[in-house]
Amino acid sequence: MPFTLGPRAASIGYRLAAFDRIGSTNAEALSHAREGERGPMWFVTSEQTAGRGRRHRPWIAPRGNLASSILEVLQVGPAIAATLGFAAGLALERALHRLSIEAVLRAPVSDDLKFSLKWPNDVLAGGQKLAGILLEAETVGAGLAVVVGIGTNVVAAPADTPTPATSLKAVGIEVSAEELFAALSDGWAEFRGIWDNGRGFGEIRKLWLARAAGLGQAVAIRSGGDSVLGTFDTIDEQGCMIVRTDTGKQVPITAGDVYFGSAASMGRTDGR
Ligand code: BTN
Repeated sequence: MPFTLGPRAASIGYRLAAFDRIGSTNAEALSHAREGERGPMWFVTSEQTAGRGRRHRPWIAPRGNLASSILEVLQVGPAIAATLGFAAGLALERALHRLSIEAVLRAPVSDDLKFSLKWPNDVLAGGQKLAGILLEAETVGAGLAVVVGIGTNVVAAPADTPTPATSLKAVGIEVSAEELFAALSDGWAEFRGIWDNGRGFGEIRKLWLARAAGLGQAVAIRSGGDSVLGTFDTIDEQGCMIVRTDTGKQVPITAGDVYFGSAASMGRTDGR
């Protein structure tokens, strides 16, 4: 089955470049942007051999997983563009929700399977990492080329990750990368529309918080050698995670590895 756009995405003019195998869909999208492509255009594959993850980690997608990147050239600054990651999480969650309902009709899936969104940009299934999102941006002649890369574990998940990972197959949802992509492209069209070049981030933030993992729980954020410990309060209007420390101070976090619950105390590096 070939990759195709969903009906909603196709009807509003999205385009698609699909590859049997490629190094990185993000790198491919950025190289098209440098050559004048303005998007919106998807770059997809079900086998990625030199994928990039956040914090300079590799993200390899073995055959059968979905690596997808959407390119758009925007007239917004990088801080606003960064909030697109929350729309991407919502788009994937919407697609997964739709496909899991269809999968349940075909075969039983665990009743308590729940998808949630983990700050900044992960999608979890049953509390384990199912998908990661990497935003990359570069200034080109026509504006800011923004690439939102979404990697989803469809048939396989890596074993050696800082937090446990899973795949759709492992949680009992038998779909193909191609089926997932069609649903994702429609989900993206919907939430990209709500985001509206950043003007709709207030609404995206509300929808995201309603699906957030770990709200109100103990959290540790590690970045380099530093850690911040406290309770996950909310995300602010810029998409920063707001952590309330035990002195009651609210600390905005812009980046880092996030650990919740008991893993939060294991994530301590401050010796306390
Ligand atoms: C993360 O580290 O959690 C983010 C992973 C993002 C991986 C995706 S797969 C599609 C796109 N192409 C890449 O090279 N990376 C992103």
